[in-house]
Amino acid sequence: MDTILSFLSSISWWLWIIIVLAIVAIRDVFQKNHTISHNYPIAGHFRYLLESIGPELRQYFVANNREELPFNRIERSWIYASAKNENNYEGFGTDRDIYAHQHMFINNAMFPYKINDNHPNTIDNSFLPCAKVIGAHNKRRKPFRPASIINVSAMSFGSLSAKAVESMNKGVKMANAYHNTGEGGLSSHHSHGGDVVFHFGTGYFGVRAEDGGFSMEKMKKLVEDNPFIRAIELKLSQGAKPGKGGVLPGSKITQEIADIRGVEVGKTVLSPPNHKAFSNIPEMVDFIEAIAEETGLPVGIKAAIGKLDQWEELADLMLKTGKGPDFITVDGGEGGTGAAPPSFADHVSLPWVYGFGDLYKLFQTKGLSEQIVFIGSGKLGFPAKAAMAFAMGADVINVAREAMMSIGCIQAQVCHTNKCPTGIATQSKWLQNGIDPTLKSVRLAQYFKSFRKEFIEITHAAGYEHPCQFTMDDIEINVDDHNLSKELSGTYGYLKTIVPFSSMQDLKNCKHLGGNY
Ligand SMILES: Cc1cc2nc3c(=O)[nH]c(=O)nc-3n(C[C@H](O)[C@H](O)[C@H](O)COP(=O)(O)O)c2cc1C
Repeated sequence: MDTILSFLSSISWWLWIIIVLAIVAIRDVFQKNHTISHNYPIAGHFRYLLESIGPELRQYFVANNREELPFNRIERSWIYASAKNENNYEGFGTDRDIYAHQHMFINNAMFPYKINDNHPNTIDNSFLPCAKVIGAHNKRRKPFRPASIINVSAMSFGSLSAKAVESMNKGVKMANAYHNTGEGGLSSHHSHGGDVVFHFGTGYFGVRAEDGGFSMEKMKKLVEDNPFIRAIELKLSQGAKPGKGGVLPGSKITQEIADIRGVEVGKTVLSPPNHKAFSNIPEMVDFIEAIAEETGLPVGIKAAIGKLDQWEELADLMLKTGKGPDFITVDGGEGGTGAAPPSFADHVSLPWVYGFGDLYKLFQTKGLSEQIVFIGSGKLGFPAKAAMAFAMGADVINVAREAMMSIGCIQAQVCHTNKCPTGIATQSKWLQNGIDPTLKSVRLAQYFKSFRKEFIEITHAAGYEHPCQFTMDDIEINVDDHNLSKELSGTYGYLKTIVPFSSMQDLKNCKHLGGNY
């Protein structure tokens, strides 16, 4: 033994390097998995290394401020600065080519809207509730007026970490917004006092019967036990993967998640594309009515938009029976996800503007747009984009990735791997340890408040008190020359239904107002 050790220690360091390289080269030549390293032993590894760090190199050194997707650097920086309550202005003027095709303009008034000393926005410059009450039209027992027009979109505990969910729930409480649970069921991390919208899909997680179907008993108990649940959202589809069902990779399924969802630890969970509880439109409407009746809460549906024939059937049935969803959440094809096949994320379902416009117009033609609360999601977490959404008929917006960025997401785009470097979209205890929910909840609240403040200022600049007053003629889309650029009404072929609105003070006095005002 001593002789071997003394022989090994006599080998010089450079000879060791040559030996290791020789072993790697031999392995490369004899393996068949990677052609490049087989054909170019040792050197081939540099290609894999460079490829793996390519996104970071481009993000930090190469890409310009407006180049990256889904969110470019200017957008991300605005969210980061708003969340940290730092200076979120830009100097010297816009760096956008405002003559570019599809650039959007908001028509400002000659004089901005003037608020008096007692106005709710003089007292609180980010007070911006929804102008409609969800469930009022259908006379649900517990109608709900969201106290914030910006809220956290569906993201489950499972796709997000416990600390991220906790940060968001504490944050929405501070910002008087609501928190949508996403498909993974209600967890203790959603229960820190913020308003909650309980969301469920085909997996029925949290309200799942023994046979994997829906349990009304569990739904009733869930709502009774958790009075902070203010509305229920039935998921039909989401923009990133319509018709695909959900995917939660096995690597993200811990004991706690398995218990909440009623599934096995470490085993990938696929929720089926279709619901067991109904298989056609009349059955779906009956299902919605049954949940609303049993729980007293408003019930809505979330979907990505493509074909309109089944939506037309729904609208006709609503007209005929006076029953149906209290709200419709329209998710754009550009929407985010914890995990989806690129072919779905890139190509299935319409972008938000097209999908929402088509759907709104359809319900408006049937005379139903006033009674439905329209919620929009799909990269709408920026005040000017939200103004466009409101002009088109949205009453509320939900944000998912923008909310993630406000608590520290760096757009690493690895939510599907359980290796999220910021601890937000992972179940790794080590990675989550970097998140301090006390600090991050304040960041989310500050982002929401900065967003609302800026949105109110844009609204005043356009001469209005509340963004529900935006019309399709207030926003123009550039088609290369001002003589050719068209108001949204001309571009998308409708004028939105006027939202009944008296004053911000009346919204503040509303007994159904959520949040803690
Ligand atoms: C990590 C993650 C998880 C999500 N989970 C769900 C979900 O459980 N159910 C759902 O309907 N949408 C889910 N979504 C989609 C979002 O709720 C939202 O509709 C979409 O990302 C568009 O909003 P955004 O552009 O603000 O991100 C998820 C998105 C992300 C990024």
